[in-house]
Amino acid sequence: MTKQRGFKGRLTAYGDPGFSFYLRKAFAKSMGYTDEELGRPVIGIANTFSDLVSCQGTAPQLVQAVKRGVVAAGGLPLEFPTISLGEPFLTPSSMLLRNLLSMDTEEMVRRQPIDVVVLIGGCDKIVPAQLMAVASADIPAIMVVTGPMMTGSYRGERLGACTDCRRFWSEHRGGRIDAAEIDTISGNLCPTAGTCMVMGTASTMACVTEALGMMLPGGAAIPAVYSDRMRHAQESGVRAVALAKEELTPSKIMTPKAFTNALRVLLAIGGSTNGIVHLTAMARRRGIALDFEAFDRMSRETPVLVDLKPNGLHYMEDLYRAGGLLPVLRELKPLLHLDCLTVTGRTLGEEIEAGRPPFKQDIVRPRSNPIYAEGGLAVLRGSLAPDGAIIKQSAATPRLLKHEGRAVVFNSLDDIVARLDDDSLNITPDDVLVLQNAGPKGAPGMPEAGYLPIPKRLARDGVKDMVRISDARMSGTAFGTVVLHISPEAASGGPLALVKTNDRIRLDVEARRIDLLVEADELGRRREAWRPPAAHEGAERGYLRLYLEHVQQAHQGADFDFLSATAMTATTPVWP
Ligand code: FES
Repeated sequence: MTKQRGFKGRLTAYGDPGFSFYLRKAFAKSMGYTDEELGRPVIGIANTFSDLVSCQGTAPQLVQAVKRGVVAAGGLPLEFPTISLGEPFLTPSSMLLRNLLSMDTEEMVRRQPIDVVVLIGGCDKIVPAQLMAVASADIPAIMVVTGPMMTGSYRGERLGACTDCRRFWSEHRGGRIDAAEIDTISGNLCPTAGTCMVMGTASTMACVTEALGMMLPGGAAIPAVYSDRMRHAQESGVRAVALAKEELTPSKIMTPKAFTNALRVLLAIGGSTNGIVHLTAMARRRGIALDFEAFDRMSRETPVLVDLKPNGLHYMEDLYRAGGLLPVLRELKPLLHLDCLTVTGRTLGEEIEAGRPPFKQDIVRPRSNPIYAEGGLAVLRGSLAPDGAIIKQSAATPRLLKHEGRAVVFNSLDDIVARLDDDSLNITPDDVLVLQNAGPKGAPGMPEAGYLPIPKRLARDGVKDMVRISDARMSGTAFGTVVLHISPEAASGGPLALVKTNDRIRLDVEARRIDLLVEADELGRRREAWRPPAAHEGAERGYLRLYLEHVQQAHQGADFDFLSATAMTATTPVWP
């Protein structure tokens, strides 16, 4: 039977398709549409606008721009809402709800009469959730992100969210900035609508989405408030109508080679550690497992090229003026799979060739003169992380990348709040701060708590960095020698759960090791005595119950087991 499209597709089940279509049209006509309009390809626009997500502030204008493009190209644009996730507006973390947004989006695009969906993404978890959704639903899709904020300034110093937020807060904790001044600074960090304007998670996900081929070329870095952003959205609407005819589904774009390109770009931009969790989850929706050993090999041969905070000095608007992602792709060209299809219907290689000619700029470095000689991220393994851990080595203190120290353990986020700043806490700058029970199940939701604050007493003495390890995540805007995503997590009984204060821990990033230096006999005794943490409040019902029963570990993308593909049939990254 021929698949029905547009308003004739995915009919309500009354047992009489003719009646279902007739009734649908009748209700659609109540909105003023004509028969001719209702016969066009239907382009759904997933709108994630919310008053509780400042990063999506321009979504309504973007929706209008997409609609203009769709109408001009002969389609019928229909906007629909999904839930929206604002990183600073949710407790304990928007990550707890990423899979819920993904399910919401997947079911809406599967069950409504939509031929193609334009996804209005932006804030950290929104883009991965939407891409996970369309990877599973496998209907043609195109991503439009809201784009980064412009930078602000304070006393002549240029600044932005949220690398500078953290820097000023550390100064405040160290007693060098008082309460009134920190309040004033808070009004200068986020001067416009848009996403964080450093190479945080939102910028990272925008760049890897473009590299993956799920966004029109040039879309990753356009500032949220630029008119170019609206034109990009309009072009995406035009292209969406063509996609309806071409049936260029995500499964043809999101291939192991395309994920390899995305992972390569993740490394070269010095992207967020969160990028690896999200790309893992997205790939697993298509039955593609992430090969962490291969990813680490790739990291050793992929330098960081982009001079943006938190690795470097600049901001996303500077990357945009330097040509956006194109100069990065051009510089990486010998290392990319150029034959990967993109949403344009052309290959990545063809898009790089068709891009604007290069010009002199100092934001994207040549491979011969990188910001950091290796990729930003390194995969660690060892007795403390049998299934792996991640460190953003490009944003760490070089002398701490090889370090052995005494563990000072906190068994929960509440424990951090209760004890970290107690001046009587026995701690020195050479100790290793350890946080347990902050992983996918432990916190729950794997919050961005891995960037543990430097204890106030040490901060007052001018200590800026210490080795910190946990099963939590860290904001892409943060910096420091921070080992994250330890897997298995403590709440699932991973070795992290067995660490006690005064144990010795050895970090050796060059050797890719993180080890707990405790005798096996002693660890065996501790394992016998270990009990899982108390149940979370509200865990007996609702979404939290579903989440806790089905969330997988960080190295599996923290997706639900029933949402990942039933079998992994390929791996990524792949050479050549
Ligand atoms: Fe939304 Fe940073 S909080 S992008």
